[in-house]
Amino acid sequence: MRLLILVGTVTGTAASVAQAIAMEAGASGLSAEVCPMDEATLDVFEQPQTLFLICTSTHGAGDVPDNARRLFDALALEPRFLGQVRYGVLGLGDRAGHGATFCEAALQFDARLSDLGARRVGEVHCLDAAEDPLPEPAGVEWFRAWLPQARAQMP
Ligand SMILES: Cc1cc2nc3c(=O)[nH]c(=O)nc-3n(C[C@H](O)[C@H](O)[C@H](O)COP(=O)(O)O)c2cc1C
Repeated sequence: MRLLILVGTVTGTAASVAQAIAMEAGASGLSAEVCPMDEATLDVFEQPQTLFLICTSTHGAGDVPDNARRLFDALALEPRFLGQVRYGVLGLGDRAGHGATFCEAALQFDARLSDLGARRVGEVHCLDAAEDPLPEPAGVEWFRAWLPQARAQMP
């Protein structure tokens, strides 16, 4: 099994959190790769023995980051069955500044993946940029708790 972290970001925070998680995964003996979403197509989900982690911020008024737009749209425009996919979702947002659309992009990715039959491991986890001024250790802490659940649910 390997971990593939798909990153949606505007200003790089989600990428930095993803990198920290990939390092943690490596330290636990799990091979991990970080992939910016603009480098992925829906075919990415066809890779066998892969655990996926959607790691995305939210921008605009609840929008997915620009680099995530094409993959996000493809999930709706080119629907295909993703029943083999196991994934987690880690969102980054700002509840104080954007309460009505807090981590909306992460929630929308989850909804689209779930609509296509993909199975989420655990709950969507949202990091609040204001509450977690150091999002990397907060993300790694969440990942440490999430990984055993994910290992147990891999086919
Ligand atoms: C212009 C702008 C709009 C934002 N809109 C939202 C939003 O709608 N919902 C939310 O939860 N966070 C919102 N945020 C907060 C970002 O998601 C948060 O700062 C995040 O950590 C940025 O991560 P990134 O550097 O990976 O893009 C917004 C931030 C900016 C600058």
